[in-house]
Amino acid sequence: MNITVFGTGYVGLVQGAILADVGHHVVCVDLDADKIERLKQGIIPIYEPGLEPLVKENHAAGRLDFTTDAAAGVQHGQVQFIAVGTPPDENGSADLQYVLSVAATIAEHMERDQVIVDKSTVPVGTADTVRAKVAEVLERRGRRELGFDVVSNPEFLKEGSAVADCQKPDRIIIGTESEETEEVMRELYAPFNRNHEKIIVMDVRSAELTKYAANCMLATKISFMNEMANLAERLGADIEAVRQGIGSDPRIGYHFIYPGVGYGGSCFPKDVQALIRTASDIDFDAKMLKAVEARNAEQKTTLFQKIHTHYQGDLAGKTFAVWGLAFKPNTDDMREAPSRVLMEALWEAGAKVQAYDPEAMEEAQRLYGNRDELSLCGTKEAALKGATALVIVTEWQSFRAPDFDLINERLSEPTIFDGRNLYEPKRMAHKGFTYYSIGRNSSTFR
Ligand code: UDX
Repeated sequence: MNITVFGTGYVGLVQGAILADVGHHVVCVDLDADKIERLKQGIIPIYEPGLEPLVKENHAAGRLDFTTDAAAGVQHGQVQFIAVGTPPDENGSADLQYVLSVAATIAEHMERDQVIVDKSTVPVGTADTVRAKVAEVLERRGRRELGFDVVSNPEFLKEGSAVADCQKPDRIIIGTESEETEEVMRELYAPFNRNHEKIIVMDVRSAELTKYAANCMLATKISFMNEMANLAERLGADIEAVRQGIGSDPRIGYHFIYPGVGYGGSCFPKDVQALIRTASDIDFDAKMLKAVEARNAEQKTTLFQKIHTHYQGDLAGKTFAVWGLAFKPNTDDMREAPSRVLMEALWEAGAKVQAYDPEAMEEAQRLYGNRDELSLCGTKEAALKGATALVIVTEWQSFRAPDFDLINERLSEPTIFDGRNLYEPKRMAHKGFTYYSIGRNSSTFR
């Protein structure tokens, strides 16, 4: 099939590449001429395992092309994907200006019937708004005879495993009331619908809400566990034992119940906030979601609070080694990252930071490059030199078994504040560290 994808961010680029990889002919459209030029040369703007070879191979094979020419893009596809950003506006609602401008562009240039697919995470009711926009432009063009349908087909990919998630989706949600559109979408996704039925067809609004409900449920699990971790710490219990104890119940499960420093990234914070806003727009008080958000905001300060208490507020002039800046491993993304809340609080208190992250150094440089209070170090060992203590914010694999003797030697006080529970408290005590982690009262392990 011929497919057009508007937007070459995470969702659009990955989606375009995997659709091309199964044999569809895909054209990706973006306004950013530099980005399009780089993509043509196989330069990928994001760090995402497996994406680069996928883009290069399919581009070389002539199944995946990139253009800034929206008119040519629209001509190409029989299905038009809208995969542009929906950043939060000043009151937390998803900002639909990019989605609607793509809708207008499609309507401006379409010359045959089209299936328009909302792939971006958009508030319930957006498909109706997109439909109205397309109809308005067609009306103005005097082309009312052109038929179109707007489908909600949300994406569930995770950063860091986006390619694999897209190639092997748990489910493919198709929100449409038209049988004809359903058939087009089934044909499009047939290569991904093997082994067992993954396509779930529903009405448009339910599909739109499914995306928010999934992300809000996951965010709720995390905030719930962080609340339990706070309780465990204060009650002298060990959250890691509690986690295993509850995870063994299949109704609860082991996934997504890791306590930590709060969720970050481009999806959970934005989507929880947007659903709270959607609810308030219809005079519904989303009490649970507000609690999820409030717990998360506080959790992001937990490492700083522990540091502040340990040093009795005397942080001025101290240097802290920070391991992990990305909001989670296997990405260079620092959007809403807990590391930012930590570093900004440390700077505010007069402390300095020596940071290392396996992938996010360029991003950190872009965000904070000119600050004297931050040194970006080439290795995790270099970040330790002359630091008072080590703070671990992201659970990269390479942090799991470090050289503890070297850490001990390089830190002026052997103290570790671990936001991801990477180590055994008892072992750390044996090695002579003062060790703080999440939901495990360190004194009980001595
Ligand atoms: C998420 C959803 O998983 C994905 O389905 C959706 O399409 C987009 O949003 P992503 O933002 O890439 O994907 O990250 P994810 O791996 O889900 O992690 C989100 C945050 O939750 C991270 O900050 C992570 O550290 C945190 N987290 C996750 C925990 O604190 N504990 C856990 O048990 C799991």
